[in-house]
Amino acid sequence: CGITAYIGNKEAYPILIKGLQRLEYRGYDSAGVVMIENDCFNLYKKAGKVKVLQDFAESNNVLGNIGIGHTRWATHGVPNDTNAHPHVSNSGRFALVHNGIIENYASLKEQLKQRGYTFKSDTDTEVLVNLIEEIFVKEEIALEDAVRIALNEVIGAYAIVVLDNQDTDTLIAARKGSPLVVGVGKDEFFVASDASPIIEFTKNVIYLDDQEYVIMRRNGDIMVKTLGNIEKTPFIEELEMSLEAIEKGGFDHFMLKEIYEQPKVLEDAVRGRMSAEDGWIKLGGVSEYINKINSAKRFIITACGTSYHAGLLGEYLIEELSRVPVEVEYASEFRYRNPIISENDIVIAISQSGETADTLAAIEIAKERQALIYGICNVIGSSIARATHAGSYTHAGPEIGVASTKAFSTQVVILTLLALQIAEHKGTITTSYLRQVLFELKNIPNKIKETLKLDAQIQEIAEVFKDATNFLYLGRGVNYPVALEGALKLKEISYIHAEGYPAAEMKHGPIALIDEQMPVVVLATNDSAHEKIVSNIMEVKARSGKVIAIVNEGDTEIAALADYTIAIPQTEEILSPLLTVVPLQLLSYHIALMRGTNVDQPRNLAKSVTVE
Ligand code: G6P
Repeated sequence: CGITAYIGNKEAYPILIKGLQRLEYRGYDSAGVVMIENDCFNLYKKAGKVKVLQDFAESNNVLGNIGIGHTRWATHGVPNDTNAHPHVSNSGRFALVHNGIIENYASLKEQLKQRGYTFKSDTDTEVLVNLIEEIFVKEEIALEDAVRIALNEVIGAYAIVVLDNQDTDTLIAARKGSPLVVGVGKDEFFVASDASPIIEFTKNVIYLDDQEYVIMRRNGDIMVKTLGNIEKTPFIEELEMSLEAIEKGGFDHFMLKEIYEQPKVLEDAVRGRMSAEDGWIKLGGVSEYINKINSAKRFIITACGTSYHAGLLGEYLIEELSRVPVEVEYASEFRYRNPIISENDIVIAISQSGETADTLAAIEIAKERQALIYGICNVIGSSIARATHAGSYTHAGPEIGVASTKAFSTQVVILTLLALQIAEHKGTITTSYLRQVLFELKNIPNKIKETLKLDAQIQEIAEVFKDATNFLYLGRGVNYPVALEGALKLKEISYIHAEGYPAAEMKHGPIALIDEQMPVVVLATNDSAHEKIVSNIMEVKARSGKVIAIVNEGDTEIAALADYTIAIPQTEEILSPLLTVVPLQLLSYHIALMRGTNVDQPRNLAKSVTVE
């Protein structure tokens, strides 16, 4: 979910609604805003996208220079108008927006009901706003104290902002487990789930820490406190993000822009971290633990979604190059199965957003068991980036399309550098091989540019297959995780059922699905498994499947077998995923577009999953 809030001398509504549009990638099944005018709430909530809310609100009174807004990804209760945030307390005095989950909401709700509270919605949020009200009334204390006491009764994760329509001079926000940024202007404050709604107003921000809350006053005073009621000196940082980075820059969709940004962000990801000429790698964020990492006996990689696929590639890379065993596990499984970890293990947590709840929880478990945690995150200052001992940012810049593209490529690059660094230390690769790979890594951005030129051809292929109901993606070795990622991309944005498989496993099941209706995307670049892949393509063709092969330029053998070939530049085998993934991203983009889905905000998904 996305949160935004404002207090100051400007009209709040335009700031809130624009902020919600920027945060819509975080959830978009319903939205709401509330402003205070003459001690009353102007409250609007609607199921659907922020645009639906906007059309509704703007035909009404949206005045007020203090307000809060929310765009939701439903957890408790279906996405309808009533369950949309903000939620208002029984007396009508307090309003609250919330991102996260209150785990003990059912028991709190029961207790409140017994004390006469009634509930309109099915949400945990409505419970919290009433709990705050109950404490406020019963204890006769300031709202900030009531908020703190209520939050100490709550189990779960949250970021919240609270409004009191009898006090238009104060805005209160708090966080535990879900992100919250405060923008500090002149006699005005902004609050949001990330900095994107704030950036055009001020570059001065405070990232709240977990278990902290903040009280902002109209006169410009601000106080940050812990939930243990200890005052902290607010640490104001300057935002590094630029406004262009969060706008579409002439592209029709963020996803397309982000696919096309890959050459640039890969350069950013390696900048200062390697020299091909001098043959060195330096991942700055791990220098303190370099010996431990270089001499690790085992790595455990944990992540979700696309980041998990990058993790699978990490396994291939680290094991292949450095001969150190690696396990890869979905964070959601890892955290619940009493994993075997010790202080000799290094856990690598990968996350674009740095906020994924399951990944964060997996890190906490690994930490309790004394493992060293190395994070690979994109969002600077995110919860996972802070929770890890060491780490490398991917420097992909803001990724707004829900389907991850450039973040994946940069994660793979970091894992490649890590694998090479360990391998060099262990002596499992030669210096000349290291240089050869690093030189090639430098060439990758240009080769991605070459690959992007195939866009028109890929669009034609998309036209042919846009009505398919199933897709199979096959790959071997390092291109097996790419097959999984290609299938995930298609599923996420086109809603076509797609499966990724190791090519040779096809004969143990998926082959039964193949007929003339079934498009099979085969990653068939010139690597060590090329001949095997040729056989797999023949198996598909023998059953009349339609083969779309990703090959290297000049591969006439596969071109003669496949129905469609997409020829990309040749590269080092271990780097080939950085190129092979690009046509798969474009293929899913074009198919989705032709099917008329919302490419940047596919149904039911959210960019940052801060719930379990
Ligand atoms: C969500 C997003 C995916 C992402 C996954 C993991 O499902 O829609 O694009 O891969 O979360 O997110 P993370 O931020 O931890 O990489």
